[in-house]
Amino acid sequence: MKHRLAKRIWLTVAIGIVVATVGLVAGSWHASLLPGEIDPGNMGYPDYGVVPGGDAHAGHDTSGGGHGGMHGAAGVSVDSLVEQRQGEPDRRITLTARAEGDRITLNGRTPGPELRFAYGELVEVVLVNESVSTGATLHWHGLDVPNAVDGVAGVTQDAVMPGERFVYRFVADQPGTYWYHAHQLSSEQVRKGLLGALVVEDPPAAGGAPAEGAAPQPVTAELDQLVVLHQYGAEATLNGAAGTTTVPAETGQTVRVRVVNTDNALTALWATAPYRVVASDGSPLNDPEPVTGRSLGITAGGRADLLLTVPQGGARIDFGGTTALVLGSDPSAGAVPPQPTEFVDLLSYGSPADTGLDASRPDRSFEYRIGKRLGFLDGRPGTWWTINDRLYPDVPMFMVEEGELVTMRIENQSGDSHPMHLHGHHALVLSRNGTPSTGSPWWVDSIEVAPGDTWEIAFRADNPGIWMDHCHNLPHASEGLVAHLMYTGVTSPYRIGSHPGNHPE
Ligand code: C2O
Ligand code: CU
Repeated sequence: MKHRLAKRIWLTVAIGIVVATVGLVAGSWHASLLPGEIDPGNMGYPDYGVVPGGDAHAGHDTSGGGHGGMHGAAGVSVDSLVEQRQGEPDRRITLTARAEGDRITLNGRTPGPELRFAYGELVEVVLVNESVSTGATLHWHGLDVPNAVDGVAGVTQDAVMPGERFVYRFVADQPGTYWYHAHQLSSEQVRKGLLGALVVEDPPAAGGAPAEGAAPQPVTAELDQLVVLHQYGAEATLNGAAGTTTVPAETGQTVRVRVVNTDNALTALWATAPYRVVASDGSPLNDPEPVTGRSLGITAGGRADLLLTVPQGGARIDFGGTTALVLGSDPSAGAVPPQPTEFVDLLSYGSPADTGLDASRPDRSFEYRIGKRLGFLDGRPGTWWTINDRLYPDVPMFMVEEGELVTMRIENQSGDSHPMHLHGHHALVLSRNGTPSTGSPWWVDSIEVAPGDTWEIAFRADNPGIWMDHCHNLPHASEGLVAHLMYTGVTSPYRIGSHPGNHPE
C-alpha cells in the first residue's frame, strides 16, 4: 500500500515536471517567434551602460522599458539625418543591380565598379534595382555617412524593390579604402556579389582636415592598386578573377595596395617584399615600420593598405594561399611562397600619436558579451548566439547621447570568432585581453574578436542615428548576432520583418 502511494506520488511529480518543462519550452518557442514587423528604434531593451559617477537612473539598466533618466531631442526621424551640404553633387553615379544566375551584379559586373572619389566631393549614388526580386540596398562600409543613407533595410530605408530606385547622398570626406555592399539579406546578397570597393583619395598635400585623432600621413605612391577579395561559391577571387593577377610595375616603383576583405572570415596575406601597413580600415597608421617574414590578418569586412617598393625581379602578395597579386614579374615563378606563421600585431605596430580621445574618462561604458546557448530563434531550435545573455530580437540597444565619449568592452565566450562591425563610427582600439594598445593609434570599424578574447574600444558618439553593431560573418548576423547603437530621441519609420519585407541580414 505504502509502496503504491509512493509510486503514485512519484508519477504525479514526474508528469508535473514533464508538463512544466513542455510548457516552458513551448513558452520560449512561442516567445521566439519573430513578429511580422520590428521597430528598430524600440526592439529588445535599452542598455544605458555605466556612467562613471552617474546616478542610478543613468546607470546600468537592463530591465527594459524605462527611459533611464536620459533626455534627448524627442522624435528625430532617421529620415531627417541627411547630408547637410546642398546643391548639385560633384559626382553622380548610377548603380544598377541585376540578378544574374547565382550572382548579383552592379552595372553588369561583380565586384561592382570601383568608386573613387576626390577628397571632399559631394556624391550622389543612385541605386536602381532592375531585377533583384528580394529587394536591395547599399551600405557604405566604414564610411561614417549620415544615418539616412546608411543603407540598412528596415532601419534607415525600405528595401529597394525591382523597378524602384534610391538616392544616396554624402560627402566623401574620409580619405581611405572602404567598400559598399547590400544590407538587405546581406548574408545572401553579399555572397552573391552585390558589393564593390570605394576609395576616397587623400586630400591634396597640406589640405583638408583630418578626422578626430587620425594622424595625417601623406602616403605617396606611384601606383595605386585595389585588391577586392571575394569568394563566389568555392572560388576565391581577386578583383573578380581566380588565381594570380599580374599588374605592370617597374623596379623601384612604390605601390599602394588597398586590400578589401569582403568575405565572412579572416584572411591572411604575405608578401615577397617588405611592406608597410599604412592604413587599417581606411585610417592611417602612424609611423608604420617595414614588415618582413610576417603575415597580416584582415578581418572580415576590414581593409588594409600596404605600401611597398617593387624590388628587382618583381613582387608577389599572396592572399590566403588562393589568390595572388604580382607586381611586375613573379619572383616565385608561380609557386605559392610558404605563409609566415608569425603575424603583424597592430596593437603594437607603428608609434603612438595624439588621438584626441581621452578614453580614461568616458561618458558611458558598455559591455557587448557574445555567447551561445540552446534556445529558439524564430521558432527554430538550436544553439544560437547571445548578446549579454539574450537571444535576438531581445538584444540590447546601446543608448547614447550625441557628443558622448563611449567605451565598449567586447567579450567573446561563444567558441567561434566574430568580426564585429559598428556602423557610422570609427572606434579606437584601447586594449586586447588587457594588453593596452602601444603602437600607432589604431582606428577600426571591423575587429576580429577571437574565441576567448576581450577587446576594449572607444568612440565619440558624433553621428546621430540608429546604427547596427553586428558580426560581419554575415550568416552569424542572420542568426541574430546583431545589436544597435541608438541615439536617444531618434526614431525610424521603417520596420524589420516579413511584413514590410525588410531583412537587413
Ligand atoms: Cu559591412 Cu552592417 O555591414
Ligand atoms: Cu560572428
